[in-house]
Amino acid sequence: MKAAAKAHTNIALIKYWGKRDESLILPMNNSLSLTLDGFYTTTSVEFRDNLTADRFYLNDRLIEGVEYDRVTAFLDRIRTMAGKSDAFAEIHSTNYVPTAAGFASSASGFAALAAAAAKAIGLTVSEQKLSILTRQGSGSACRSIYGGFVEWEKGIKADGSDSYAVPIAPADHWDIRVAAVVLSSAEKKILSREGMKRTVHTSAFYPAWVDSIPDDLAALKDGIMKKDFEKVGGIAEANCLRMHATTLAANPPFSYWQSTTLLIIQAVQGLRESGIPVFFTIDAGPNVKVLYLPEHEETVRNELLNITGVHDVKVSKPGQGVSYI
Ligand code: DP6
Repeated sequence: MKAAAKAHTNIALIKYWGKRDESLILPMNNSLSLTLDGFYTTTSVEFRDNLTADRFYLNDRLIEGVEYDRVTAFLDRIRTMAGKSDAFAEIHSTNYVPTAAGFASSASGFAALAAAAAKAIGLTVSEQKLSILTRQGSGSACRSIYGGFVEWEKGIKADGSDSYAVPIAPADHWDIRVAAVVLSSAEKKILSREGMKRTVHTSAFYPAWVDSIPDDLAALKDGIMKKDFEKVGGIAEANCLRMHATTLAANPPFSYWQSTTLLIIQAVQGLRESGIPVFFTIDAGPNVKVLYLPEHEETVRNELLNITGVHDVKVSKPGQGVSYI
């Protein structure tokens, strides 16, 4: 009753921002991401008869508190599905996701956990079912089941059975690069879960955000299929700015940006003015991810490393979906 899996993190080009159901993690809008090869989590799960509770180790450290509660609550769902309410597990997870780069390790973490735990408890699930299951751990994680470009369909059913990820184009469809710009000091005061909740309930701009998604999505998919980098980058950047605009109109208002965030945005705009197609996107934190084509790698990297407050630049290519190890 032991299994292990590996899953990569992903970066949303059209963001998931807001839930219509907090408990089942059902989103207000479709989102579309690119799975990244550079950042991943490996997780082994072993259900053992002699355990009376789950034990969760992250990077060799025994975890307690909120993080543990989230993992064990997720395993409860798997136990229920398998009809094995008293099967407890020892979980070992290793994150190869630099937390300082502002990537939600919860995306790769819950995708790897779902795959390993389902297999270890003896459930045979399709990738679609696995995506539905993973979604209930962390929304963005459901997209990490697949490699390359992936859409998460929000679905309309109350039970969430039609809310899952769908692959749009595989990792080898298009070699674009994503540089994660690591800031020297980055603090995230408001978690994405909390931030999106406040925004849904209080932001005057939230309805406009939801309304903007269908057109963005159709244009982005067309751009991906045609490998039109300017189109894809432009939509991703505008969508990110719109997401962040909703936080400014929340009550109380907030922003994930720090001064270095703005310096990076300006550097990206400067590069673009000099004729290099490069675009940014930002999740629920101050770090910036920069999208560009392989031929501009050196120029983009050097420019980013020159910015005051930038500590490192970690480059990623399109990555594969979840796999068993
Ligand atoms: C801004 O998936 O971390 O990165 O579902 O509450 O676990 P929960 O939230 P999470 O939110 C990610 C938000 C985002 C946008 C995105 O990845 O689509």
